[in-house]
Amino acid sequence: MDKFMIEGGERLFGSIRAQSAKNSVLPLLAASVLTDRVVTIREIPPISDVTCMAQILRELGAEVRLNDGAAVIDSSNAGEHRISSALTKELRSSVFMLGSLLTRFHRAVTAYPGGCDIGLRPIDLHLNALKRLGVNISERDGYIFCECDRLRGAEIVLDFPSVGATENILLAAVKAEGRTVLSGAAKEPEIVDLQNFLNRMGARVRGAGGDTIVIEGVKTLGGVDYTPVKDRIEAGTYLIACAVCGGEVEVEGVKPENVGLLLHKLRENGCKIHTKNDKIRIASYGRLKCNRRIETMPFPGFPTDLQAQATALNATAEGGTLVVENLFETRFKYVPELIKMGADIEVRGRTAFVRGVPRLNGATVTAGDLRGGAALLLAALGAEGTTELLDLSHIDRGYSDPEGKLRELGAHIRRVRI
Ligand code: EPZ
Repeated sequence: MDKFMIEGGERLFGSIRAQSAKNSVLPLLAASVLTDRVVTIREIPPISDVTCMAQILRELGAEVRLNDGAAVIDSSNAGEHRISSALTKELRSSVFMLGSLLTRFHRAVTAYPGGCDIGLRPIDLHLNALKRLGVNISERDGYIFCECDRLRGAEIVLDFPSVGATENILLAAVKAEGRTVLSGAAKEPEIVDLQNFLNRMGARVRGAGGDTIVIEGVKTLGGVDYTPVKDRIEAGTYLIACAVCGGEVEVEGVKPENVGLLLHKLRENGCKIHTKNDKIRIASYGRLKCNRRIETMPFPGFPTDLQAQATALNATAEGGTLVVENLFETRFKYVPELIKMGADIEVRGRTAFVRGVPRLNGATVTAGDLRGGAALLLAALGAEGTTELLDLSHIDRGYSDPEGKLRELGAHIRRVRI
C-alpha cells in the first residue's frame, strides 16, 4: 500500500491537462458490449477503476487491449452475462453493466453492489426503470437476476436525477422496441458524452443534458472510435489545490460551464479566475475568504465530488462555512483526518460547520475514500510541515499520476511504496 510524503507550503505555478473523465469512461466501457463490432476509446486514464471495468469486460468474454493510451474492445466472442461478485463489490459502477448485458443478451446477473464509505447507494431507481422496460428481476442471496424476452420502450420518470440510473436506462433502451421517454434525467456532462458515444454507434438518443431524454430503439449498433470528455472533477480538484496553496495554475481540456458553480465559489473565496475556450486559469494570493455556504446538488449545482476538496479549502479560509451534503448520507468521513491537521470542523449528519484557522499542520493521515483522500492531499499541500498520507489505493481509483502533475506545478510530494 503506497503513501505520499508531502512537504506543505509551496505555491503552485504552471499548467496541466485534464485526464479523460473517469465517470464517462466507465459507462462508455460498459456500452462497448452493446455491439459485437470493435470499439476504441482513446486517452484512457490509467486509474484502477478503469482497470477493474476492463477486467469485468474480460470476464464476460470480451477482448480488451490497452495500447498507446487507448482501450480497444472486441466483444464479438462475449457470451457470459454474469458479473463476478468480487468485481461488483470492487467497482459499484459495474451496476450499469446490467443495461448493456440486457440489451446484448436479454439476461444479466450481478451481485448487489455493496454500499461504500460515502453512503448506502441503493439501486432501486435502476431496477424500477429496468422493470418498466420489460425486465423480470428477482433477488436471491445478494444476487440480482434479470431477464427479458425483449426490451420495449416505455415512459420512465426518475424521482431523483440519478446519474447511474440515467446511464443504465440509456444502455437498456437503445435497442428496445419503440420509444423510451425518460423524465427527471440526470444532466451531468458525462450523460451528454454517453449520448454522443451511443449515437456514433448508430443509436438515436436526444435530449441529454436536459430533464427529458428520448431514445428511439434501433435494430443494430456498430463500432465506434471515440475520445471521452475530460474530467471536470479532476480539473476542479487541481483548481482548488491552487486556491489552497496560492500561485497561478491553468487547467486545460474542461469547458468552464462544466465546473460553473465551482468557479463562482472560487471567486467568492477571492481567487482570480479567467477562462478561454477549454482553458481555466486561477490565481490565488493571500488568505482566502470563506464561502459561508457550500450545498451539493445534482448538476449544474455544486458537485458532491468536490465537496470534500472545498471543505479542505475553507478549513483555512477566513470565517465560518456551512457545508451541506445533499447527495450522500456519510460523505464527511475525511473530517476527523482534517481535524488531526488542526482543522476546526463540526459534523452533524449531512452538515459540517467549518471554522477557518490560519494554517493546518502536517500530520499522519489516512484516506478512506476517493474524494476524501483528495481533500487530505490538498490540505497537506497547504499545511505547515510534513504530511504522511496513507492508503493511496482510494486516490489511485480516480486520479492518474497526481504526484507527477503536482510536482510539475512545484509541489514537494513523493510516493513511497510500503
Ligand atoms: C455517480 O454515482 C458518480 N459515479 C459519483 O462519483 C457521483 O458522486 C454521483 O454520480 C453523483 O453525481 C460514477 O459516475 C461512476 P447517483 P451514482 O445514482 O450513479 C441515490 C466519484 O467520486 N440513489 O446519482 O452512484 C444515491 O444513494 C463518484 O467519482 C438511490 O437512492 O450516483 C445517492 O444518494 C462517487 N437509488 C444519490 O441517489 C438509486 O437507484 C445520487 O446517486 C440510485 C441512486
